[in-house]
Amino acid sequence: MRILVTAGPTREYLDPVRFLSNRSTGTLGYAIAGRAAARGHHVTLISGPVGLAPPPGVEVIGIVSAADLARAALAALPEADAVVMTAAVADYTPRDVSPRKLKKTPGPMTVTFVPTVDVLAEMGRRKRPGQALMGFSLETDRGEAALNEACRKLEQKNCDFIVLNGPANFGDVKVNVTVLTRDGRTFDLPGLSKLELADRLIDLLDKT
Ligand code: CTP
Repeated sequence: MRILVTAGPTREYLDPVRFLSNRSTGTLGYAIAGRAAARGHHVTLISGPVGLAPPPGVEVIGIVSAADLARAALAALPEADAVVMTAAVADYTPRDVSPRKLKKTPGPMTVTFVPTVDVLAEMGRRKRPGQALMGFSLETDRGEAALNEACRKLEQKNCDFIVLNGPANFGDVKVNVTVLTRDGRTFDLPGLSKLELADRLIDLLDKT
């Protein structure tokens, strides 16, 4: 299979030295890309800024912003048999980016943010028969509310799988996730290392 993986955070710059980002470390996306390549798949990894070494045998495309990610991922989509969207993509970006460092002024400062492209939703619209889309749903809520949100994303983004994830899973830790499938199955994958989880998620893609 040809697998496209996205990983890590994006950075949305306000000026040449300041940006808005998030806590994603890229660990799971790199684990998926590395394990998929080791299992003989052809892997392209589109990665935001992370402190991880490129996995052996993987073609890595570095990006910075959500717009960069959208451009690279949508260009690579037609060649992919499966897409795994672990990237923590910014939902908003500053409307105005200053070419010079913003100066401090007295009183509060207001920044206007505009929405970015929802890359996964756009992939869901462009998806062709035989392509499998795996998205992630990061929720701080737990239980029913989190499941409902994951289910909404599965449907609205036309995914084959959504992996429900929580902020406790950031970094190099044992993770607990719940997988929702297009055909209505829901199951927990508890207490796995990210490498173990990577293998289980690739198993799901192998079967589609
Ligand atoms: N995603 C994306 N493009 C965006 C935002 C998110 O492709 N601009 C993808 C993520 O890579 C992930 C999935 O959509 O696979 C869900 O991301 P998440 O942040 O959980 O949800 P959002 O759709 O952004 O919704 P919300 O932040 O309101 O929960």
